[in-house]
Amino acid sequence: MKSLIKQLVETPGPSGFEYEIRDVIREAIGDAADELRVDALGSLIAKKGVKTEQGLRVMISAHIDEIGLMVTHVDDRGFLRFTNIGGINPLTCYGGRVLFMDGTRGVIGMDSIESGKTPKLTDLFIDVGATSKEDCPVKVGDVCGFERPFIDLGKRMVAKSMDDRVAAAVAIEVLRRLESTPHEVHFVFSTQEEVGLRGATTAAYGIDPDLGFAIDVTRSGDTPRFSPKMATALGDGPAIKVRDSSFIADPRLVDWMIKAAEEAGLPYQLEVLEAGGTDGRAIQLTRGGVPAGCVSIACRYIHSPSEMVDSDDVENAVQLLVKLLSEPIVLK
Ligand code: CO
Ligand code: ZN
Repeated sequence: MKSLIKQLVETPGPSGFEYEIRDVIREAIGDAADELRVDALGSLIAKKGVKTEQGLRVMISAHIDEIGLMVTHVDDRGFLRFTNIGGINPLTCYGGRVLFMDGTRGVIGMDSIESGKTPKLTDLFIDVGATSKEDCPVKVGDVCGFERPFIDLGKRMVAKSMDDRVAAAVAIEVLRRLESTPHEVHFVFSTQEEVGLRGATTAAYGIDPDLGFAIDVTRSGDTPRFSPKMATALGDGPAIKVRDSSFIADPRLVDWMIKAAEEAGLPYQLEVLEAGGTDGRAIQLTRGGVPAGCVSIACRYIHSPSEMVDSDDVENAVQLLVKLLSEPIVLK
């Protein structure tokens, strides 16, 4: 799976501009799905299975957009000012490299470096090597993502956009390994999550699921002196979300997931995320309401260009999802 993850994380696709990553994913799914379609907001929806008497219509959502930057102004010397697409921390920007959708590369500079002062986004600019406005290849409205190669540290993997491409890789692998299911499963590779769960909102309405869950990353509380107390840690297994700041997972789904993990002998951990949301909210609040939850992958340094996950957590998440979807779902 590492080569698939590398390919996904290195493909640019800030929110609203997911056309390239969507093509890569479509290619990776190949004939593992029964049906593939793209909806009006650009989400790729892969359907697998036929709903049997004991089956449900299930929606699983992994977002394929990533945080990025959008140009707001080009000055006479060709420097670019920008705004954020999704949650960008200015601390992680200075000296970083960016890649525009047309292949243009740039570096992020700062107006002045005052020690001890945290920069604001407005103190930063992008330098694409232009000498004037005229020879600058980028215009207002153009978007870029961070550029950072995937690195394999053995048990741990690091890349920009592990949020949420690692979940897209998990979903693709589940599609490949799922041999039979009593359910009609719709794997949604959703757009525009980082700007407000928009792709999953319309996909959920369109699919009208009986039940659904997101796959996303969550913070890990296992780094030195990490201040918000969080129980999740890299390598402790897929995290079953109890709540985040966007929704409270249906407790029956939480129990269903815990029971499946225990039956399969898979490690798992419980997640309470105090700041952050997922597509699970969009599924839960569609139409008249849907039982919804989320399976998370613990991740360090989220929304930085170096997000770290554990390979065993990724593999165990795939196994948990295959188990969940292979059997009838009884919510108690
Ligand atoms: Co995110
Ligand atoms: Zn995410």
